[in-house]
Amino acid sequence: MKQIKLNIKTKNENYPIIIGYDLTKNLLPILKKNSITFNQCLLVIDKKVPSKIINKITKSLKSKKLFKYYFDANEKNKNLKKANEMLNILLKRNFSRQDCLIAVGGGITGDVSGFAASLFKRGLQFINLPTTLLSQVDSSVGGKTGVNTKEGKNLIGSFYQPKLVITDTEFLHSLPVREIVCGYAEILKHSLIKNKNFFNFLNKNTQEILNLKSNYIEKAIHQSCKIKKDVVEKDENEKGLRKILNFGHTFAHAYEASLGYSKKLNHGEAVILGMKSALKFSLKNQILSIKEFQSIISHMNKLKIPLEVKNYFSIKDLNKILLFMVKDKKNYSKKINLILLKRIGHTVSKNHYKKEKIKNFLRQELTN
Ligand SMILES: NC(=O)c1ccc[n+]([C@@H]2O[C@H](COP(=O)([O-])OP(=O)(O)OC[C@H]3O[C@@H](n4cnc5c(N)ncnc54)[C@H](O)[C@@H]3O)[C@@H](O)[C@H]2O)c1
Repeated sequence: MKQIKLNIKTKNENYPIIIGYDLTKNLLPILKKNSITFNQCLLVIDKKVPSKIINKITKSLKSKKLFKYYFDANEKNKNLKKANEMLNILLKRNFSRQDCLIAVGGGITGDVSGFAASLFKRGLQFINLPTTLLSQVDSSVGGKTGVNTKEGKNLIGSFYQPKLVITDTEFLHSLPVREIVCGYAEILKHSLIKNKNFFNFLNKNTQEILNLKSNYIEKAIHQSCKIKKDVVEKDENEKGLRKILNFGHTFAHAYEASLGYSKKLNHGEAVILGMKSALKFSLKNQILSIKEFQSIISHMNKLKIPLEVKNYFSIKDLNKILLFMVKDKKNYSKKINLILLKRIGHTVSKNHYKKEKIKNFLRQELTN
């Protein structure tokens, strides 16, 4: 099967994303072809990735000194303690900066291990093999790494680009449908903020993509990464433009945090809910037309997941949600910054919303 290569050029690093099926069996030749050399390697492996694929990876790297760290990926384990455990292995095994850390997992595994790599001797070679749809279309692109604390999500972290991303669609076949839908949410987000043609493609081929049909899934991943690449290359450290990637996320992060990162609502589902809130807010404030709003909502309905905030929260959660929204790291004052949708493919950034206005909006969401 053909491979797709996308080069990401940031101030700090130029690196390729290679997309294809069954790439892991040729991992070492791919690394060599991309000028990545090392003596020892720490493999940080999500426990749920099938051992059949892990065996292919270890077989391909058999000429290298390998250490494995199995990671139980959930938002509660996305913490400093786990990053520290990885750092301790690197220290004990006397890794040098020229050795490497390879993450084999979803967004959580990639974020924590990328963070550990960024800290180790101020920067260890980091290779990412994203294994969920969400990580393949979003978190593996752009170099944000980090961990959660009880105060909120991703509040400690770094910008640290990988040396290489290998996106093998074989990983996706062991994912539960729920996780496929979560990845689809970020694909949809990319189309909404930047590309109406891509939105139309998604609208027409939703089932093919959700069923991981060859060519459709690769195209969706490629287009999605391309949109994120264009944004990240212009604004690596989120000084301005990159904030549009946050569409729906100020709500989403507050929803996740308010539920204590419970499995009831995972990140991708929170993103869908958060985007729906941002769309409704855009509509109510006459930023988005009813026609476009309805076309997006009918697309979202095809995902067949509970899309109402009320399914997860009641009015007694209102203040908690609001507090997390105010604490969002993208706010620089007491007012709440929101990325809203003007029309499909175009966002607006509004940073003047008073807490009360958002509170009224959420109150209606939770009571109507
Ligand atoms: N760095 C960024 O730019 C960025 C962008 C978006 C999201 N994120 C972060 O990514 C995280 C969400 O990522 P995610 O949705 O990949 O979550 P995740 O890493 O928790 O993976 C989801 C679930 O799938 C399992 N899993 C992983 N690969 C599998 C496979 N191949 N087969 C079967 N099961 C598998 C995991 O064990 C987990 O239970 C959040 O913490 C979010 O903050 C980061």
